[in-house]
Amino acid sequence: MARINLDVNGKVQTIDADPDMPLLYALRNDLGLNNPHFGCGLAQCGACTVHVDGQAVRSCVTPVSAVGNGKVVTLAGLGTPEKPHPIQKAYVEEQVPQCGYCINGWIMTAAALLESNPRATDEDIRKGLSGLKCRCGTHMSILRAVKLAAGRMAAERKA
Ligand code: FES
Ligand code: FES
Repeated sequence: MARINLDVNGKVQTIDADPDMPLLYALRNDLGLNNPHFGCGLAQCGACTVHVDGQAVRSCVTPVSAVGNGKVVTLAGLGTPEKPHPIQKAYVEEQVPQCGYCINGWIMTAAALLESNPRATDEDIRKGLSGLKCRCGTHMSILRAVKLAAGRMAAERKA
């Protein structure tokens, strides 16, 4: 066990944990942040995705000690009900979710993608999201929502 500081959603918190423990367990079990989900535990589905220093990271295979001073952002830190991230807003408008289990991964991955590539084409978006899974088959509405958000974010940057 070790004492580990984690900067999550703008707040530094200390936990006692095995350094090899996945970041996902620290977020869910130690910090009570339940947006990142356990899907496969093998970096295959994306349900556990969070941002570390702006990069989309699969927290199920990221040792908590590997985060270091990195700034972790979860879905709860991306936007709020009062001030949602454009992708969160578009998800609601497009009525994307079915069971909702996968949503965290798609939104966090898409948000990092649009941040790093504000001019992402449809092809870029499809490619960037290709490693994610949705068992409910909401892929087409996900793409509509992400493209809607991408267009709005681009318009805001120009304004
Ligand atoms: S739970 Fe992490 S990628 Fe599936
Ligand atoms: S909405 Fe059910 S797994 Fe994607």
